[in-house]
Amino acid sequence: MGKAISPSPAAAGLGLHNFSSFAFSACPVNFLPLDVPECLPAFTDREFRDALGQFATGVTVVTACDAQGRPAGMTVSSFNSVSLTPPLVLWSLARSAGNFAAYAQCRHYAIHVLAVDQKQLALQFSQRGIDRFAGVHWAPNAHGVPLLSGALAVFECQARSRYDEGDHVIMVGEVQACRHSMQAAPLLYHRGAMRGE
Ligand SMILES: Cc1cc2nc3c(=O)[nH]c(=O)nc-3n(C[C@H](O)[C@H](O)[C@H](O)COP(=O)(O)O)c2cc1C
Repeated sequence: MGKAISPSPAAAGLGLHNFSSFAFSACPVNFLPLDVPECLPAFTDREFRDALGQFATGVTVVTACDAQGRPAGMTVSSFNSVSLTPPLVLWSLARSAGNFAAYAQCRHYAIHVLAVDQKQLALQFSQRGIDRFAGVHWAPNAHGVPLLSGALAVFECQARSRYDEGDHVIMVGEVQACRHSMQAAPLLYHRGAMRGE
């Protein structure tokens, strides 16, 4: 059963409704109340997915190698920036992902922001039961992480932290190298479809 939601004393005391003043004040890192009440959503999974689908994102492929040194890669749209100093990024990994073990143990991975002409690559790296690297031009970096050709931007990361949340794990990476190109438009993901300009 869901419980009634009331702001915790910690949240009320911080005046979380006034985010701007909160954001610029000296704040403790662990300000979020840990006793967040459980509540039942008043919407269906479909409604939640459709609402999330209104948020347009780019498309990335995240690569790593598994414990046996074999290349792993998957299409990911949950990429985002976290911090400039130090340079941190995040993405969310589904617990159900076939490559889950590879990402859960790897120390390094690379995030490739795809260009508009890389839709086929995005589809290939989201398919089950195929060799996702078949026909793909790539070379390993110093850590054995596959680096794909033709991306708009590449972030080579050291795995910094992982946070269990729901049916995903939030992966935070510290960027050790990055580069980009201004030569093409990005591949976009919106309402469940990939599109370009
Ligand atoms: C556009 C797009 C974005 C995706 N974003 C994510 C994501 O952010 N996190 C994730 O775990 N899976 C994401 N996926 C799903 C994976 O790419 C992959 O399809 C899924 O894990 C099923 O394959 P697997 O079970 O072999 O891993 C996305 C798929 C597509 C097509």
